[in-house]
Amino acid sequence: MIDPRADYLEVNRRWWDEAARLHVDTELYPLAEIVAGLDPRRPFEDEEFGEVDGLDLLHLQCHLGTDTLGWARRGARVTGYDLSGESLRVARELFARSGVPGNFVEGPVTEAVERLGEESFDVIYTGIGALNWLADLTEWAKVVWSLLRPGGRLYLVEFHPLLGVLREEEPVLEPSADYFYDPAGLVSSDPGDYAAFGAVREHSTAVEWQHHLGAVIQSLLRVGLRLEYFAEHDGMSFAPWPEMERLEGQLRWRLGEGRPRLPLEYSLIAHRP
Ligand SMILES: C[S@@+](CC[C@H](N)C(=O)[O-])C[C@H]1O[C@@H](n2cnc3c(N)ncnc32)[C@H](O)[C@@H]1O
Repeated sequence: MIDPRADYLEVNRRWWDEAARLHVDTELYPLAEIVAGLDPRRPFEDEEFGEVDGLDLLHLQCHLGTDTLGWARRGARVTGYDLSGESLRVARELFARSGVPGNFVEGPVTEAVERLGEESFDVIYTGIGALNWLADLTEWAKVVWSLLRPGGRLYLVEFHPLLGVLREEEPVLEPSADYFYDPAGLVSSDPGDYAAFGAVREHSTAVEWQHHLGAVIQSLLRVGLRLEYFAEHDGMSFAPWPEMERLEGQLRWRLGEGRPRLPLEYSLIAHRP
């Protein structure tokens, strides 16, 4: 019998390989629309991060490569890296259909330095449901440091950890789960999927970790990265509650009229001196 915590990489790889098959052409991953030109990225990203034309960009935990494609269309030379081979198969196909070059490498974040060989990057982009799959953020920050060139920048755009203590049914504070990081992680076995509504999974077990904001920032500072930008956002690239409003022309939702505004995503930029 597989022990989810001891074998979390294998458990999560199966979960994500199945997710990749389920996610193709869902509302969150409308691949045909993206091929036709829909921008999957968040509009504030250009404003916050600036131009990437001609830069070498690594997208850690790239899933189906949708955001990766958004960066490539802005002129970055992109490499997508992910644990799930099935996700990368879809990502390669998405790039081929879009006529955009991209390189994809499979493996866990903890092995990215070895698997990417001698490569280093001007930009590392990651987030939108990425960090919660990692057990140890200091280990992650060391990988980011090693893969960045001196002067290179990390751009993290991530779901706000406040979401971990909001009720599942509606955006009401119900702190029955820890806000703070617990190294033991959380094992779940929901047979559903966040993007493929109505799907019943064969692989339902997943292992995740809640990383509070202080833990994220401390992990970066601990390895010597310098924080240069931090922001919180009241919209998000996912609609966990039914009454959320989709922002026009975007893959992004906001709490409806009359609801208090809450921080649903955050973004930060840190550089390697
Ligand atoms: C929610 S997706 C990332 C967000 C992405 N922007 C998207 O399209 O939604 C999470 C990705 O992390 C990958 N992943 C999970 N654990 C990982 C690990 N330990 N190392 C590398 N990738 C991992 C999964 O395979 C999945 O593709």
